[in-house]
Amino acid sequence: MRQRKIAIMGLGTVGGGAYDILTENREYIQATQGIDVTVAAILDRTSAPLQARGISADLFCDNIDKLAANPEIELVIETMGGVEPAKTFITKLLENGKSVVTANKELLAKHWSELEPIAQKHGCGLFFEASCVGGVPIIRAIGESFQGDKVRSIYGIINGTTNYILSKMSSENLDYAQALKQAQSLGFAEADPTSDVEGYDAAYKLSILASLAFHTCVPYASIYREGITKVTAQDIKNAHALGYEIKLIAIGTRDGDSVEARVHPLFVPSDHPLAAVSGAYNAVYLNGDNVGDLMFYGAGAGARPTGSAIVSDVIKALTGKPKYTDFDNNGRLSDGIDFIGDFMSGYYICVTVDDKTGVLSKISTVLSDNGVSIKSAIQRAGEGDTATLLFLTHKAREHSVMHALDTISKLATVRSIDSMIRVM
Ligand code: HSE
Repeated sequence: MRQRKIAIMGLGTVGGGAYDILTENREYIQATQGIDVTVAAILDRTSAPLQARGISADLFCDNIDKLAANPEIELVIETMGGVEPAKTFITKLLENGKSVVTANKELLAKHWSELEPIAQKHGCGLFFEASCVGGVPIIRAIGESFQGDKVRSIYGIINGTTNYILSKMSSENLDYAQALKQAQSLGFAEADPTSDVEGYDAAYKLSILASLAFHTCVPYASIYREGITKVTAQDIKNAHALGYEIKLIAIGTRDGDSVEARVHPLFVPSDHPLAAVSGAYNAVYLNGDNVGDLMFYGAGAGARPTGSAIVSDVIKALTGKPKYTDFDNNGRLSDGIDFIGDFMSGYYICVTVDDKTGVLSKISTVLSDNGVSIKSAIQRAGEGDTATLLFLTHKAREHSVMHALDTISKLATVRSIDSMIRVM
């Protein structure tokens, strides 16, 4: 059996996971897939990660031009992360006719449209199953399983760090800072958690998933993004009392030419399947006009789950005839797309007010003047002479709710608007 030589750029957690799977399962892959895949080069800043894994120093390479010019290497796995130098390196590899398998969601979300034509021009593939939802084969499913369907919506828990934090807050009654600290000490959150907790990571992934699902480019910049840092232990208590869990949800919908894409905390009804997705797990809940509702669930990160997605792309790329690129079905239904910023949603609003006659009525009037209809209202005694008002609204326009909240915040009897979280 002819050896098919590949390389890895970035031997970190995920690159190392892919290396381990390819090495341990080499014979199994030979027997089941009929190809012999070997890692013939590893590009990194130093050879230390190779030494740490007992990999021969002969495989070490620190020069992208050498790697790109190596005629033996057919394909390169990119697990460096970040935009640069990954973008420059991938461009060189594609220009040299080497297919690339990447886990790099930020790069794809920001530069997909530049890399796609380069891959196509040079007849090689750019594969990215591992960029979204780790080991869950969601890219393959969206790209290859719904040809007869118009995907109408995607609701995803696609960031494990924030789901871990919110789950801890929910089950152990912790506040955000305590849960973040716990997540960091257990390795579920980075020392600088910004990309996860502010929703950037989920927005990158949503841009990729929604672009594929809706056959149009959903630019990262068009996605409304809000993270979980303002969610309080009290919000979670209130959510439970009202029959909800709070999750960071990535939402993509397409209705005709209207596309909505947003990432923010959401009140999810306790009996919805997404409410049961806890810890660092991920799930994507998808609706197609014929297939109906489907949910994809599993590990969204980690060396082995993400490595598994990478290896599946490697096999696909090396056995594809003709060379396959995942971009083929992207961008075919792009004309006249309207990205909806003024979306409709239900809202949970929590306000601290002076406990005086007429306050509730004044707030209700502002909401009603802005076309926001109240579904339920609860008043609780607050500290001193204050009261806390909790509202759930019927579906309303985002801009109308924001305008109403701005007006409410200026009422003399309103002390603070404590929370506003959208409701599924
Ligand atoms: N930081 C990501 C997460 C890892 O928490 O889901 C996988 O992209």
